[in-house]
Amino acid sequence: MPTLFDPLPVRDLTLRNRVGVSPMCMYACEARDGLATPFHVAHLGARALGGAGLVFTEATSVTEDGRISPEDLGLWSDGHAAALRPVVDAVHAGGAAIGVQLAHAGRKASTYRPYGAPRRGVVPAAEGGWTPVGPSDVPFREGDPAPRAASEADLAGIVRAFADAAARADAIGVDVVEVHAAHGYLLHSFLSPLGNPRTDGWGGDWAGRTRLVREVVAAVREVWPAGKPLFVRLSAVDGAEGGWTVEDSVRLAGELAPLGADVVDASGGGVRPGARPDVGPGGQVPWAEAIRRGAPVATAAVGGLHDPVLAASVVEDGRADLVLIGKGMLHDPFWVQHAAEALGVRAPWPAAYGWAVAPDD
Ligand SMILES: Cc1cc2nc3c(=O)[nH]c(=O)nc-3n(C[C@H](O)[C@H](O)[C@H](O)COP(=O)(O)O)c2cc1C
Repeated sequence: MPTLFDPLPVRDLTLRNRVGVSPMCMYACEARDGLATPFHVAHLGARALGGAGLVFTEATSVTEDGRISPEDLGLWSDGHAAALRPVVDAVHAGGAAIGVQLAHAGRKASTYRPYGAPRRGVVPAAEGGWTPVGPSDVPFREGDPAPRAASEADLAGIVRAFADAAARADAIGVDVVEVHAAHGYLLHSFLSPLGNPRTDGWGGDWAGRTRLVREVVAAVREVWPAGKPLFVRLSAVDGAEGGWTVEDSVRLAGELAPLGADVVDASGGGVRPGARPDVGPGGQVPWAEAIRRGAPVATAAVGGLHDPVLAASVVEDGRADLVLIGKGMLHDPFWVQHAAEALGVRAPWPAAYGWAVAPDD
């Protein structure tokens, strides 16, 4: 079995190791225009220099109304791609591959960011918020303003928007795109029986509920180069009675593979307030493992994997093909170097640092 520090080939891309920076919203577009700023360059560039094989952007919205918060990154115009290009260049300069997480927040859009905001919850129109679009007019949180139920035209537009954003990402040199179908956002809310009460061709049975995700993945793959990997993040389980299960995730992964999905990134929860699987560090790994064993895809494991011994064991035991580290990377951009030191493995520092900090290498 490979180790955490072995390269990972996926299509024509080879990651230098099997550690990725998990997508993490920074809510840092202060101008509320979705444009990447020097903050995003510094934040993601540092984690590339820190040794990760793959650095994901935060959830990057494919439409203006698909942002979780007004301060989210977006990729709904060529201007957004131009602003993101310095981030791509910085991550490449740090020696990592860059992934963009393509996202639409659905009925969970237009909420205050978790810091520097007057309160939590829905941002009203008077403060720059908007009416979100979801599977139905049922809000995520009881008592919140009703979202708009997506029309046929909305859904066709959203599928197109994912593909257009992927094409823009390709044009600026992005290596990986990940379709965000987790955490109760638009695509997950269509998948889950707990989020999707529709009775038309976009809901009801398995084929109806999975249609939006299947159409998005197919449309993205159509424009995304054959040599570049496509990831899909699933909430592998809803963690609530009557919800989406790991068996559903295995089945869906099996249907997404022939549409061009290469890697399923197994996260969990988020479809309803409080719907959160009750798992500790490494507790989501069994889902990545089940999907890897049950479907012809590679998997990424995530969730409390910042302990190097645990992270290394996930890959070495063949439970996932790579690990994604979230909060651990916020604590320590050099997580990969420090993990290597802890495990007694040599992982090269960036040349410009190594001669000074590890002269014996
Ligand atoms: C600050 C923060 C922002 C996050 N934003 C996103 C996001 O944009 N997209 C996403 O799929 N997950 C997001 N997550 C979830 C992480 O990607 C990851 O799955 C989760 O934090 C568990 O990994 P960890 O225990 O290593 O932090 C976020 C997590 C944190 C802490």
